[in-house]
Amino acid sequence: MSESTPSFDIIIYGATSFVGQIMLEYLAEYTTKQDAEPIKWAIAGRSEQKLLAVKAQNNLPHIEHIIADANDEAALTNMCAQTKVVISTVGPYALYGETLIKVCAESGTDYCDLTGEPQWIKAMLDKYETSAKASGARIINSAGFDSIPSDLGVYALQQHAIETTGKPAFQIKMRVRKIKGGASGGTIASMLNVVEEASNNPALRKLLVNPYVLCPEDHPFKQRQTNHKKAQFEEDTQMWIMPFIMAAINERIVHRTNSLLGNRYGEYFLYDEAMSAKKGLQAWGVTLGLGAFMVGASIKPIRNLLAKHVLPKPGEGPSKQEQLSGMFDMRFYATLDNGEKAEVQVKGDRDPGYGSTAKMLTQAALCIANDIPDVRGGFWTPAAALNDALTARLAQHAGVTITLQPA
Ligand SMILES: NC(=O)c1ccc[n+]([C@@H]2O[C@H](COP(=O)([O-])OP(=O)(O)OC[C@H]3O[C@@H](n4cnc5c(N)ncnc54)[C@H](OP(=O)(O)O)[C@@H]3O)[C@@H](O)[C@H]2O)c1
Repeated sequence: MSESTPSFDIIIYGATSFVGQIMLEYLAEYTTKQDAEPIKWAIAGRSEQKLLAVKAQNNLPHIEHIIADANDEAALTNMCAQTKVVISTVGPYALYGETLIKVCAESGTDYCDLTGEPQWIKAMLDKYETSAKASGARIINSAGFDSIPSDLGVYALQQHAIETTGKPAFQIKMRVRKIKGGASGGTIASMLNVVEEASNNPALRKLLVNPYVLCPEDHPFKQRQTNHKKAQFEEDTQMWIMPFIMAAINERIVHRTNSLLGNRYGEYFLYDEAMSAKKGLQAWGVTLGLGAFMVGASIKPIRNLLAKHVLPKPGEGPSKQEQLSGMFDMRFYATLDNGEKAEVQVKGDRDPGYGSTAKMLTQAALCIANDIPDVRGGFWTPAAALNDALTARLAQHAGVTITLQPA
């Protein structure tokens, strides 16, 4: 952290984004709760007019606002000097995120974000991990629906395995049992940007299929991991399953956590994610629809048509009612070394991508600011740095519970 005492605990950078505005509303309400810690906070973004508008909408005239364009290093440095933690929702991160990471890593400012772009995290690790370690900045990517539930769910199940048998589970499967919610323009823009970058770049396509891409170069992992590309009936779980689009980031974050925790899950750890379906027809229908979307998105004219006429635009996303009626229920399955079948449930009470993500990201930032003084600088994952402290916060304040299921 910077040497002089910062004025704020957290700054929401990108407070005008779809998800940033939900965070603003959540934080304003959270600070009025009796069991909330005192928080000094501010908002930031590139447009003063838009920042003033979101302050007015939420009746927060007293909250300070800071102007900083994502490409303006001096303005970002000034912003970082004023806070312990910066939360960034300015995405696609591959387009707008690098300068802020550089400034945080060099100035020792803690940081968290919502990126689901593994190629960008890898590039940032390569460029700025050394500075973050030297300055003491704790950088935590993917602190939303991607990838907190996956990362903490695996962590909880492995804790149970180690406490019960003295050994980690050799394999964990995560199956999304229920999910209700929509996508925002910002998320769609990030996905389309990855597809666009990959369609022109064979080296990037190779990097994206490497499950250990976010692990340190000298990691010992050699296991071939399962990558679900089609619908299938799975004998051991007795479920129809289909690909889960977020597996591409979640699985990589989980393997990075394993390496950051000294290979706590084992050098041969197997982990895969999929969605369950009620029937084979549904599993195949969704799989073929997703495949068609990915093929369409990789062709420039179709991608442009989709972005212009079909998909939500940046700033748009699910309605308030859709956020409130949304939810997710993810199950983590393992057979322990003693033969016991173990299961962990991670459940959220809002739509995953926005209502729940806004609460998870805010609590992750508060956890960094207040709960982990002993974690040193560097690029961390949610489970490696925040683990039990974040799990407790999520249950108490964010409607996300992580529970071991009865056998
Ligand atoms: N991990 C997860 O589970 C998860 C969930 C949801 C979203 N996300 C990701 O979070 C990000 C935000 O999503 P969203 O839907 O909320 O996005 P959004 O509504 O499109 O907002 C994008 C934000 O970036 C700002 N911005 C763009 N260019 C900028 C620049 N040059 N300088 C400063 N600010 C700039 C915009 O400011 P203006 O308002 O001034 O244009 C806006 O605040 C996306 O990358 C998305 O993929 C991840």
